[in-house]
Amino acid sequence: MGQDLPTQETEFNQLITELANSGSFSTIKNMYEAWQELMSRFRCAIMEIETKFRVLNEQFSLLHERNPIENIKTRIKSPESIRKKMAKKGLTPTSLDCIEENIKDIAGIRVICSFIDDIYMLADCLTSQDDITLLECKDYIKNPKENGYRSLHLIVEVPIFLQNEKRNMKVEVQLRTIAMEFWANLEHRLRYKKDLPEDVLRATSDGLYQCAEISAQLDEHMQQIRNAVEQ
Ligand code: GTP
Ligand code: MG
Repeated sequence: MGQDLPTQETEFNQLITELANSGSFSTIKNMYEAWQELMSRFRCAIMEIETKFRVLNEQFSLLHERNPIENIKTRIKSPESIRKKMAKKGLTPTSLDCIEENIKDIAGIRVICSFIDDIYMLADCLTSQDDITLLECKDYIKNPKENGYRSLHLIVEVPIFLQNEKRNMKVEVQLRTIAMEFWANLEHRLRYKKDLPEDVLRATSDGLYQCAEISAQLDEHMQQIRNAVEQ
């Protein structure tokens, strides 16, 4: 944490300097307002998607007497992370349009489901709605990452209706089970413990990978039990 702060501050300062130098804004106040407006549009997009999931959960619980969704989490990417990701892509933020175009996960929503089948059912329901455009789909459940990470990632576009205009906004949707969430949270926390010695790090990665496999078996098992109960 102590090491992160100066880096974050640098990223933040650089973002402001790059945007200010781009010539896209007449004043700093103007730039600040445009930034606030963009982030507000992303918050609206999250609200739209979150409502869609809540509606599906409501309808499903009426029809099947159970909730496919355990929990929903949302977040807006911080200015520091946006700047960092632009730099990683070799891009300089010269305008807000350029940021909006290139960073597809400024708005993020995570839907935690009870069972694996619920993930695919909810993803299908969302992407077949006529105002949703599916831009990307990464299935890390069928094709887990090398470290064992599992989740279904979608990038979708959703319209938001403002006072005088309609804007299409990108949102990253992550769908995962409780077991996948449990694993990902621990892995995320451990990844930032950079001071671990090499051998401990290797043992941790191996251990985490094994836990991911055990979690996947658990999800599979729970799904089979539910299928049996529902038949
Ligand atoms: P990012 O620069 O991380 O956004 O990469 P990307 O655009 O290729 O996206 P990807 O769909 O692979 O992953 C995006 C998000 O998924 C991350 O920001 C994390 O929230 C989550 N994620 C991906 N891989 C891992 C992982 O190995 N561990 C954990 N804990 N989370 C992950
Ligand atoms: Mg991403």
